[in-house]
Amino acid sequence: MNEMNHDAGMPIAITLDAGTYYRCTCGQSQNLPFCDGSHPAGKSVPIPFELTERKKVYICSCGNSDHPPFCDASCGVETP
Ligand code: FES
Repeated sequence: MNEMNHDAGMPIAITLDAGTYYRCTCGQSQNLPFCDGSHPAGKSVPIPFELTERKKVYICSCGNSDHPPFCDASCGVETP
């Protein structure tokens, strides 16, 4: 994945512990969907997000969400 796949249209459902996370936006990470620092300097910027409790989240993989890094159903997939 070299960039967000705008045709993917499927959120990534994942349960995460409380903490700060960084959503990869360049596609070079070996730990997708999270940034591992592989992005070229000055190019892509990871999207930080914070969770205050363990919860299931739906990460946008299509790049069309108005509320990145989370899916907002712009892909046509409704999330709980
Ligand atoms: S996966 Fe991007 S809005 Fe749902």
